[in-house]
Amino acid sequence: MQKTKLLLAILTLTTPGVVLQAEDIDFATQIYPFVKSGCVSCHSPPYADERGRTRRPKADIVLATKEGILNSVDEDEEKILVPGDPDASRMLEVTKLPIYDDMHFPPEGKAPQWTDAEKELFSKWIAAGADFGDWTEDPAPREGLEWDGVEKQAGTVETFE
Ligand code: HEC
Repeated sequence: MQKTKLLLAILTLTTPGVVLQAEDIDFATQIYPFVKSGCVSCHSPPYADERGRTRRPKADIVLATKEGILNSVDEDEEKILVPGDPDASRMLEVTKLPIYDDMHFPPEGKAPQWTDAEKELFSKWIAAGADFGDWTEDPAPREGLEWDGVEKQAGTVETFE
């Protein structure tokens, strides 16, 4: 038993093709968590704040629904996500602009930056066709947005005290 398991483990680790394929990336569990933490505080669907005033998503870009991610446009009226083409996807590009650029998102200190590994994964997911699986929307986009101000990847940006 044990030996078979060990052999299987070795085979799995060494066989080419068993490495994570882009098509295997699961949006709901592998991508959306960092979209939510990094972007949704400013890009959720409209909601009523504590005074009952309606707050609209920044730039009218909604990143907490499939519909919003696929159909929101940037200031040039271009779709922010182009399935199959990471380089044409503004949603990825803004995260890679220099931190001091006005169009870098999230703004420094406002939400956690995407790590290099997350940007890479997001890029692969777009290249593979941006498959959302069964995911259509975050049922509670305003919940779970608290952030302690500490970046996941040390050294990318200064943290705010
Ligand atoms: C603290 C609030 C805030 C956060 C967090 C935030 N954004 Fe934004 N975002 C804005 C504002 C404000 C604008 C409009 C900027 C302007 O037009 O000058 C904007 C605009 C954009 C645009 C349009 C850029 C263009 O060229 O027109 C994209 C794309 C975008 N955000 C993506 C993201 C992504 C992706 C994240 C997370 C990684 C994110 N934003 C996080 C506030 C935020």
